[in-house]
Amino acid sequence: MVNLPTVKAHNATLKSALRPGIVAVFVGGTSGIALSTALALARYTLSPKIYLIGRNQSAANSAISTMKSINPSATLTFLKADISRLKNVDSVCAEILAKEKTLNLLFMTPGYLTTRGRDETAEGLDRKFVLHYYARMRFVANLLPLLTAAAQDTTLGSSRLSRVVSVFDPRAGVRIGGTGKLDYSDLSLKHTFTLGKCGAHASIMGNFFLEGMAQKHPLTSFLHAYPSGVNTGLLRDSPVTSAVFSVLLKPFMVPIEESGERHLFAATSGRFPSKAEGEGIQKNVDVAIGSDGTKGNGSYWVSWDGEVFSPNRKLERVRAEGAVDKVAQHTEEVFRTMCEEGRTYP
Ligand SMILES: NC(=O)c1ccc[n+]([C@@H]2O[C@H](COP(=O)([O-])OP(=O)(O)OC[C@H]3O[C@@H](n4cnc5c(N)ncnc54)[C@H](OP(=O)(O)O)[C@@H]3O)[C@@H](O)[C@H]2O)c1
Repeated sequence: MVNLPTVKAHNATLKSALRPGIVAVFVGGTSGIALSTALALARYTLSPKIYLIGRNQSAANSAISTMKSINPSATLTFLKADISRLKNVDSVCAEILAKEKTLNLLFMTPGYLTTRGRDETAEGLDRKFVLHYYARMRFVANLLPLLTAAAQDTTLGSSRLSRVVSVFDPRAGVRIGGTGKLDYSDLSLKHTFTLGKCGAHASIMGNFFLEGMAQKHPLTSFLHAYPSGVNTGLLRDSPVTSAVFSVLLKPFMVPIEESGERHLFAATSGRFPSKAEGEGIQKNVDVAIGSDGTKGNGSYWVSWDGEVFSPNRKLERVRAEGAVDKVAQHTEEVFRTMCEEGRTYP
């Protein structure tokens, strides 16, 4: 476990380690873990440019005024969008691409808890599945040119940062007896949806899509992170769960401010280098083991405490089935159908 003083000590170095004006996008930044991480970034960096993406204007206004009071030199922008529609993801990304030349951090947490079953959007996908997987991966695909440009910025010397962090759960498909299997005949779960399968597919597909991205885009590092229990808007919307969490599970929960500090550590620590950086790092340096078991491979499945998860046989079996390529092909087909051809996913 990376202890909290170590996390805070690392974060305190960011004012000198990162150049002023780093650019960060927080998808789901109006609440919870993304907001807490954005607040930590505002506290620990010089003149950051922070984008918050969500639907709630008043929550965004309040977040921006808090961040301004923490760091008057921060540039803060709220982009209002319902990103359960991929066409809205594309519009938001177009705005960012028009304004920025580089992006140092893409941090994503959109999602919600529900006991409802499949809820199909006008584009033909399940809403929850889109927020936990498809929209996030569309942000990655769209904003990669800016992330690559940040890694290639030769004016930055050692302070280059190019990182994607998706906060969900790399282990959701294998916890509590989960089979860890992907249904390749129905990856979008159009025909065989259950909430359990949706959580498992979003998790496993996120794992392998990001692992493939790290191989294809070696200048950027990609983290899929598990936050543990954190009392956020996610739980506030579910009265029973919220009461249970706040009373019974309180001793096991991560306080929201600590969660922000820890996710800022994950988003900036040298433990999680890109593939290109990992190959150049000396063996004795503290670099995490990547998701495929290779040290510093650019793709990391990280737990709440800053340590990577140990290898899991079920997930290794999925990789051996060719999940990296199969998931990428499916996801690209979804993007082509909906975003380029403007059709509903069949
Ligand atoms: N909290 C936990 O204990 C816990 C545990 C395990 C995993 N996780 C995972 O961690 C992630 C973050 O959770 P959190 O606790 O930070 O949740 P949260 O406080 O509820 O934040 C979720 C964010 O998603 C945004 N969002 C939801 N639907 C959206 C939509 N249609 N369009 C645009 N933005 C949307 C919300 O913004 P608006 O309301 O402004 O739209 C909000 O900012 C989730 O994926 C969750 O599954 C959380």
